[in-house]
Amino acid sequence: MPVVEPAMISKTLRDLFHTANSVLVLTGAGVSAESGVPTFRGGGQSAVWKGMPFEVISSAQMLERDLPAVWEWFNYRRNLLAQLTPNAAHTTIANWPCRFSDLSVVTQNVDGLHQAAGSRDVIELHGNVWRARCFDCDARYNSRELNCDEAVPSCFDCGGNLRPDVVLFGEMLPPGAFERAADAAQRCELCLVVGTSAVVYPAASIPEIAKGNGACLVEVNPERTPLSDFCDEVLTGKAGEILPLL
Ligand code: APR
Repeated sequence: MPVVEPAMISKTLRDLFHTANSVLVLTGAGVSAESGVPTFRGGGQSAVWKGMPFEVISSAQMLERDLPAVWEWFNYRRNLLAQLTPNAAHTTIANWPCRFSDLSVVTQNVDGLHQAAGSRDVIELHGNVWRARCFDCDARYNSRELNCDEAVPSCFDCGGNLRPDVVLFGEMLPPGAFERAADAAQRCELCLVVGTSAVVYPAASIPEIAKGNGACLVEVNPERTPLSDFCDEVLTGKAGEILPLL
């Protein structure tokens, strides 16, 4: 992998970083890779659980078939995440509100590391593994406050079963999340796509909307993706090394 250095970043992009007001950053699992979170695809580790690929254990069908197994999988992921901390990519993004008056942080990740780094009002397209919600009354809980020794935690309000507040394969996105992200994509001057394989929709349509509305589209990824050819600039490397250079 090429050595990451400031010369990698074009003057056009540097200038835009100084003049832009409206910026959208879309992140995927790769932005958390240097924190130790396994990515789902690409050259890194991949998330597999008891021999089941993640798209099976993290699916609406599995939720119906075996809710305790889904809780066991997400308890495992939370335990792994609990020891991890944000990396330089998260902290750089968390400092961007002082650079851009209209910054939108849109993430596909459920790990909460953007918030842990200090980002506020993060648009979580796929939910958050630190939240749970009731199947029956929709009450929300902080998973840290639940007794996860039970195979399936129960709602304190109505006694119903709780589920992780995460979008599983085959489920709709949280109401309003995609619309907020699409609105930001329509008005941004610069769209940074960081650490995503850009293959899962509708999240992957956010950069397309930005580009279609005239934004400068920049990808940060060690590997090429289906989005790379549509980008104005591709910064090949790790997010934790490249974003601080910006
Ligand atoms: N810095 C930047 N990018 C990285 C790094 C890094 N240090 N390490 C890996 N990557 C890149 C990989 O090259 C890959 O393109 O991050 C990307 C991770 O892709 P995926 O594992 O597919 O993750 P993501 O794009 O977020 O997946 C989208 O799919 O499984 C579902 O709901 C899940 O939100 C997830 C969605």
